[in-house]
Amino acid sequence: MRILVFGGTGYIGSHTCVELAARGHDLVIADNLSNSSEKVLDRLQAITGRTFDFCRVDLRDRDATFGLLAGGGFDAVIHFAALKAVGESCERPLDYFDNNIAGTLNLLQAMRHAQVSRLVFSSSATVYGDPERVPVDEDAPLSVTNPYGRTKLVMEQLIGDLCVADPGFQAGILRYFNPVGAHASGLIGEDPSGVPNNLMPYICQVAVGRRERLSVFGGDWPTIDGSGVRDYIHVVDLARAHADALDALARTGTGFTVNLGTGSGVSVLQLVQAFERASGRSIPHAIVARRPGDVAEVYADPARAHALLGWRAELDVDAMCRDAWRWQSMNPDGYAS
Ligand code: NAD
Ligand code: WQD
Repeated sequence: MRILVFGGTGYIGSHTCVELAARGHDLVIADNLSNSSEKVLDRLQAITGRTFDFCRVDLRDRDATFGLLAGGGFDAVIHFAALKAVGESCERPLDYFDNNIAGTLNLLQAMRHAQVSRLVFSSSATVYGDPERVPVDEDAPLSVTNPYGRTKLVMEQLIGDLCVADPGFQAGILRYFNPVGAHASGLIGEDPSGVPNNLMPYICQVAVGRRERLSVFGGDWPTIDGSGVRDYIHVVDLARAHADALDALARTGTGFTVNLGTGSGVSVLQLVQAFERASGRSIPHAIVARRPGDVAEVYADPARAHALLGWRAELDVDAMCRDAWRWQSMNPDGYAS
């Protein structure tokens, strides 16, 4: 297939490009580089032995996005391009609505115009808000706890309405739980700008000496050890799911919404211990107050992804920590190293 990967130089997009290239697909990567580095392209070449066509395009630029789609001859689009920081979305909601929602609207219109009818979309477990019970399946009630989450929910709804209006348009909506880890080569990985919002990159930066200690947000949650529990999923497993989703759309001609997680919960303190084992470094940490908006425990029921895509997560927490550490220790300052 010939695939347009929007947001393809980002963390999950870059890993997905490796998987798609390994399966023989023809790719074009588009990104505005607002949260990624062009150096990713050299790293992808080093891993795959292939060069990739790259277009620096902002999803909100209607003419550029229409032009890219119209002349591209694409069989499908994978749409990773979004702003994703929850705290920032509370401070700048309009920027999030503009980038994520208006950008997606542009992309959908450009796809329709170019008669490209297959889309794989990056959604998030954030659409479940504070789930009533775990594991969370795809029929659980949806809700919004912050502007970033609202953009994901609205984008899912826009895509859903389009699929109803045009049965020829097929979308695979992938709700990721907590993506972590890196490619086993250590050449690509997660490179947040500024202070990391998420747990694994924060632990990595403590391990490599960029930050003094980890703050564990809450030690009194009703969980196994009092710290928050999440469903961490290796980014390489996640990447594989995108290629499986494209295959499923091509095979069945039917859209779907699936959770992508392992189905197991891991606490903050358990992840710290696993990382210490994998890296041989100690991770100084202190329990502090709960972070506003956090919930005790979220993990996926991933059964539908297995039933529809034949996909299940294969890599465990030790592999997630080992690969995250290899990436961070080989690139202490990320792509700026
Ligand atoms: P990322 O920031 O590393 O990648 C997103 C990419 O999109 C970046 O390269 C960025 O430059 C690009 N981008 C953003 N806005 C753009 C625009 N207007 N035009 C063109 N390019 C644009 O993030 P990621 O972790 O790889 O996430 C990918 C997708 O998965 C996002 O949609 C995110 O919301 C979703 N998601 C991420 C997580 C997570 O924890 N990482 C969890 C659930 C869902
Ligand atoms: C995980 C656990 C924290 C940092 C977020 C988004 C969600 C999705 C994935 C995009 C929690 C604890 C964290 C730290 C800590 N993104 N923690 N100290 O909050 O589950 O999900 O990223 O769609 O929308 O909300 O992930 O990595 O921030 O936190 O103790 O410095 O680690 O309290 O229990 P979260 P996270």
